[in-house]
Amino acid sequence: MSKSKVKYICSNCGYESVRWLGKCSECDSWNTFTEELVETGRRKPSKVPQKVTFHKISEITATEEDRIKTGITEFDRVLGGGLMPGSVILLGGDPGIGKSTLAMQAAANIKDKILYVTGEESEKQIKLRSSRLKIKSDEYYVLAETELGQIIASINNLSPAVVIIDSIQTMYRGELENSPGTITQVRECTSLLMEEAKKNHYSIIIIGHVTKEGMIAGPKLLEHIVDTVIQFEGESNHSFRILRAQKNRFGSTNEIGVFEMREDGLREVKNPSELFLSEREKQTPGSVITSSIEGTRPILLEVQALVTPSNYGYPQRVTTGFDQRRLSILLAVLEKRANIRVSAANVFLNIAGGMRVQEPAVDLAVCISTASSLLDKVVDNQTVVIGEVGLGGEIRSVGNIEKRIQEAEKLGFTKAIVPAGNEKGLKLSNKIKVTFVENLHQVIKLLLN
Ligand code: TYD
Ligand code: MG
Repeated sequence: MSKSKVKYICSNCGYESVRWLGKCSECDSWNTFTEELVETGRRKPSKVPQKVTFHKISEITATEEDRIKTGITEFDRVLGGGLMPGSVILLGGDPGIGKSTLAMQAAANIKDKILYVTGEESEKQIKLRSSRLKIKSDEYYVLAETELGQIIASINNLSPAVVIIDSIQTMYRGELENSPGTITQVRECTSLLMEEAKKNHYSIIIIGHVTKEGMIAGPKLLEHIVDTVIQFEGESNHSFRILRAQKNRFGSTNEIGVFEMREDGLREVKNPSELFLSEREKQTPGSVITSSIEGTRPILLEVQALVTPSNYGYPQRVTTGFDQRRLSILLAVLEKRANIRVSAANVFLNIAGGMRVQEPAVDLAVCISTASSLLDKVVDNQTVVIGEVGLGGEIRSVGNIEKRIQEAEKLGFTKAIVPAGNEKGLKLSNKIKVTFVENLHQVIKLLLN
């Protein structure tokens, strides 16, 4: 018989302690320790098998064709080309963002058995959603169950190609004393599912909720167990949703998928640039269009800045969709290298449409939109602004410049501001006038005069 005792585990990184800690000494997060029952009985070592089988790598067959296409291109692309049999995908996101809808829709076109395991909703509720999504498949099965042993037995019985677990926080292993949703349960359930998926070659989509801190419960804990972590994001009062891969053993992590939530489910957005620019005002100070690369796709985005005088000692810097520290650096560069006095002003920066950008190629657009709002001068709305800004105020070259310019051209932009370092070897059409620039000062003079 194993005995159990209490331990404290950090829900962020899994660090264990015998005492409760306010701050995790491993990952520095605050208030993440929860009390967990830990089995102390040692597991028996498994018997050494008599016959061990090796395979030559050249004899193992595995091809890209093995992937199961869901038919939703935005979803397949984020996964790296479809679901890999035997892989486990963690689909995370805020409650109500549309995870169940996405998982259900993604499996709807697969011509094989699908098992939807629900621990949150009743079979009737699942049926109502499936009618709303107009799912017609005859091989779509539903199981309302939360004990993992039962679930695995049902899976083995049915042998589906894809299993959806909605959600991991409601599942538990009967042999553990912890309640569902605790770190131990979530971790143990995920490991067992992973083992089963690998052994029996089916794919599992595990749905996981995000905690208050904006993280999937135990993200670091589960991240190294599963093969792929995808995050469904968006503002609940916007209809756009973005699917992003955070970890992917079978593909790249910088692809995104864009969706729109409608009455009858999620719809793919094939041309995100149009969507993100759709609500643009004609000519407003502080608005600048840039061309960013998400994965392999160029997307045009509107950067909006609002600069107001600050009456207090500490001016505010608030960003949505852009890194706040990066903004502080860019403001310092603006002040020091281009003589734009922002140190005593509040700066509010927004990437319109709910996108989140990380690439440095949008730096120049951020600087110009801030300067444009401060000086109250509009930037011509037919111009896209592309470039990374260095600490010396120099404009640095960026990757994929041709793709970025082509996307702008496709959407009818007539002028582009591009780093001088990108000029060499650049093939241009004559539909768009490209100006090569070297430093921030020069761009401000060019666009805000
Ligand atoms: P849901 O998939 O249940 O979210 P999650 O599993 O992430 O908690 O979807 C939640 C929201 O989506 C809900 O507020 C209603 C809305 N919705 C639609 O707008 N259209 C639809 O067709 C469906 C199924 C849901
Ligand atoms: Mg749900």
